[in-house]
This record gives sequence, structure tokens and C-alpha cells, in this order.
Amino acid sequence: MSQTILEYLRQRSSIRAFKPDPVPADVVQRLLAAGVEAPSWSNTQPFRVAVAQGELRDRIAAELCGRFDGQIEHGRGREYDVPDKYPAELQARRAACGYGIYGALGIERQDMAARAMQMRRNFHFFDAPVGLFIYAHGALGAYAALDAGAYMQSLMLAALDEGLGTCAQAALATWPDAVTPFFDVPEGYKLLCGIAVGYPAEDVVNKFRPQHLAPETLAIPPKA
Ligand SMILES: Cc1cc2nc3c(=O)[nH]c(=O)nc-3n(C[C@H](O)[C@H](O)[C@H](O)COP(=O)(O)O)c2cc1C
Repeated sequence: MSQTILEYLRQRSSIRAFKPDPVPADVVQRLLAAGVEAPSWSNTQPFRVAVAQGELRDRIAAELCGRFDGQIEHGRGREYDVPDKYPAELQARRAACGYGIYGALGIERQDMAARAMQMRRNFHFFDAPVGLFIYAHGALGAYAALDAGAYMQSLMLAALDEGLGTCAQAALATWPDAVTPFFDVPEGYKLLCGIAVGYPAEDVVNKFRPQHLAPETLAIPPKA
């Protein structure tokens, strides 16, 4: 039986280990259809999605892993910037998330080789059979990315209703030239993010639940 939206919101968490079972094409189509229910700036819907499954998924994963293994400098080819250095407030949460994942997997902080291997798993979609690539229109700046985010969350909640797990993956946008040549991407669209989609595996990494902020922490108080 379907759950309420609040139950889905609470249930969703990032899945980083998937079963190899394929996702039927009609199920993928239902996810994409759910995504388009999202709101957007003047209903411009300034985003597109490219679906990688089967042999295409394997070829793109091979390209991305090849870039990672070749130590091609991270981030240089990105079409959306990521900071070199994070402000302290954000860095603390980022580090807690990273160390939480390593901790769940029994990876020591100093074990850089094991950390790199875990990072590498991003580039074959954590073994998920489906990789989605989200493109946003460059002309609408931050608002296109905002709209794409609403699209992504809608799609990821719909995935739960199909018994699927997801992980949003900005890592999949590290090297656009390893991805974009495989698709007929319309002019003006830039690679923003990816999403791994598949059936969650029984794996300790999937039990990791990073702490989300208390709503009071996010609230900005009025000036006294
Ligand atoms: C825009 C965006 C990009 C993300 N990129 C990655 C990524 O590249 N690799 C990864 O393992 N998780 C990635 N995540 C997942 C976040 O780490 C995760 O959402 C966060 O730690 C909160 O955990 P939860 O999704 O389980 O609630 C990303 C999430 C978002 C929204």
C-alpha cells in the first residue's frame, strides 16, 4: 500500500550499494513521469535527463572509472563549480558525512587507498543498473539548478514507491566529456548531477543515516 508523502520523505536515504537486478523500462519511465510534476521557474522546466542502462551504462561507467584511475584532476572539467575549500560550518557537516560512511564500512580515516576505492564506487553508480544524468539550462543560472533539484527529489521519492533506492551523485558530473558525448544533449544544457537508481542491496553502507539538522537550526530568527 502506498505511504504518505511524509513517510516517504522520512524513508528516503542515499543508497550506495545496489543489487544487479535490472529495472524494467516502464518503471524507469514512471520515475521520469513523476519527476515532471515538480514546480519550476515560470514553468520553464529548464532541465533534461539522460538515462544510461545496459551496455550504455557500462560504457559510461568504464569512461568515468578510467578518468578516476588516470588521476585526471578532479573538477577541472565541471560545468557547475564546486568549492576548493568549504566554509567551516559546511565543512564540518561534510566531514561528518564522509567519516560516517567510512565508519559504517570499517574504513580507517588514514586509509587513503580504501577511501579512494570507496570514492571510485561513485563512478560505476555503486553497481546500480541505471544511471540518470541531470542537465540544467545554463541561461537560468541558479534557478535552473534549483528546478532540477526539485525534479530530482520528486523522482527519488517516486522511486521509493517502486521499491527502488537512489543516490544523488554530483560525482557523476565531474567529467562531462566522459558522459555528454553519449547523448544528444540540446544546446545550452550543462551537466549538473547524476542519480544512481536500482534495488537496494543488503549492505551495511545502506544502513548509514547521516544526521539531518533540527528545523530550529535552519530557521533564521528575526533581528531583536
Ligand atoms: C546534489 C547532491 C549531490 C550528491 N552527490 C553525492 C555523490 O557524489 N556521492 C555520494 O555518495 N552521495 C552524494 N549525495 C548524497 C548526499 O551525501 C546525501 O544526500 C547526504 O549525505 C544526506 O544523506 P541522505 O541522502 O541519506 O539523507 C549527493 C546529494 C545531493 C543532494
